[in-house]
Amino acid sequence: MSAGLVQAAYIVAALFFIMSLAGLSKQESARSGNYYGITGMTIALIATIFSPDAQGFAWVIIAMAIGGAIGIFYAKKVEMTEMPELVAILHSFVGLAAVLVGYNSYLEPPVAISTDLAEMHAEHVIHLVEVFLGVFIGAVTFTGSIVAFCKLRGVISSSPLNIPHKHKWNLAAIVVSTLLMIYFVKADGSMFALLVMTLIAFAFGYHLVASIGGADMPVVVSMLNSYSGWAAAAAGFMLANDLLIVTGALVGSSGAILSYIMCKAMNRSFISVIAGGFGQTVVISEDQEQGEHRETTAEDVAEMLKDSKSVIITPGYGMAVAQAQYPVHEITEKLRAQGIDVRFGIHPVAGRLPGHMNVLLAEAKVPYDIVLEMDELNDDFPETDTVLVIGANDTVNPAALEDPNSPIAGMPVLEVWNAKNVIVFKRSMNTGYAGVQNPLFFKENTSMLFGDAKESVDAISKAL
Ligand code: TAP
Repeated sequence: MSAGLVQAAYIVAALFFIMSLAGLSKQESARSGNYYGITGMTIALIATIFSPDAQGFAWVIIAMAIGGAIGIFYAKKVEMTEMPELVAILHSFVGLAAVLVGYNSYLEPPVAISTDLAEMHAEHVIHLVEVFLGVFIGAVTFTGSIVAFCKLRGVISSSPLNIPHKHKWNLAAIVVSTLLMIYFVKADGSMFALLVMTLIAFAFGYHLVASIGGADMPVVVSMLNSYSGWAAAAAGFMLANDLLIVTGALVGSSGAILSYIMCKAMNRSFISVIAGGFGQTVVISEDQEQGEHRETTAEDVAEMLKDSKSVIITPGYGMAVAQAQYPVHEITEKLRAQGIDVRFGIHPVAGRLPGHMNVLLAEAKVPYDIVLEMDELNDDFPETDTVLVIGANDTVNPAALEDPNSPIAGMPVLEVWNAKNVIVFKRSMNTGYAGVQNPLFFKENTSMLFGDAKESVDAISKAL
């Protein structure tokens, strides 16, 4: 394949990636968005493998076969609820790849394009800066993603690491790395400076994510997504691969935009996320007196639903665990057939990944037009007869608005307690992801329906 043809193929692939992102932004077009992405990636791989610069065709095929087989195995095996962990570990691979590409490019610098001495020197300096930045971003992404993976998987505690002067340590890591970069360039590529910076960046990435509490992990995962994009773009500069630069920049900026949207949804400061400094708020005392809770039965809930004019269902992580979306769709249809207005209220971080609830409800064929965002129906709760909180906890916790010391203080929540009746579906009085007790369970208009969400909803469906 000629170099010109490879460039043309790269442009076509980049267009497919842009169409893919556009498609993925809406439920209706998400499937075609995925196909555009697959097509773009296929074109990109073919063009790269057959480009004039490529060597060792057999090695590439062997690596692709091994990597592809591992990828297919895990993608088939992974549960929807484990998706953020998978994404986090994949980000760590991108980070590590950027570090390896950086070292490789340092040890085997590209041949200078220019023949002019001054230009050759400028090219060399640019190359050194690319190597240094690429390795730095890659190393931060690598350890940061591994910590995120371990926290999401529960291998390490999700509570924030609070070492004294944490912000000063972060600042020191950046300042020392900058000084090392200046030295690295001045010393015409000192291996010592590169190695020391790599160790600092590994520690910095670890500390950045370890300092963040469980409740803020969604933003961290999307932030690492953005970092992995920049790491890929940096690798693209080192390899002089335009498509990798474009793709990395797309991932980097879309990840940053998503993080910004999530920060707004959770009322967190975008800057403090990048600085790894939030999530260290005072933890609520769990032995706080909360009062008594009431229990109800599936039959009573069915009666209550039949007597309601308007119902809002707010699903959460527990609905995903129980796979209760199918019976939830069933009762929705039964109630709608009786003229009852049923809508769904989706919190931006309900579940364990962005859009988690929307995917589950779409899977169960719940019509899109009754699935609304939190902001679209938060004012409607006072006029709602019954709210079914199915496996949600943090996203309906009034402490976020009422208790300034709560770890989730300031996060906008679904104000379900303003409805006439609230039914909470869960298995116990345990806390949710953020580990915070929920005063909703003890409110006078709330009743608990204990048990697996799927079994409870099935029983209601039967009673209806
Ligand atoms: P959570 O606060 O995680 O609460 C889920 C509830 O579901 C738990 O209280 C649990 O109580 C219940 N549950 C679990 N399995 C169940 C089953 N089989 N049947 C019935 N109930 C079950 O959920 P949420 O309200 O969706 O909030 C999401 C949380 O995850 C937030 O803190 C968010 O920040 C965090 N997070 C979100 C994301 C994204 S991007 N969405 C990513 C990472 C973390 P029992 O154990 O008593 O049953």
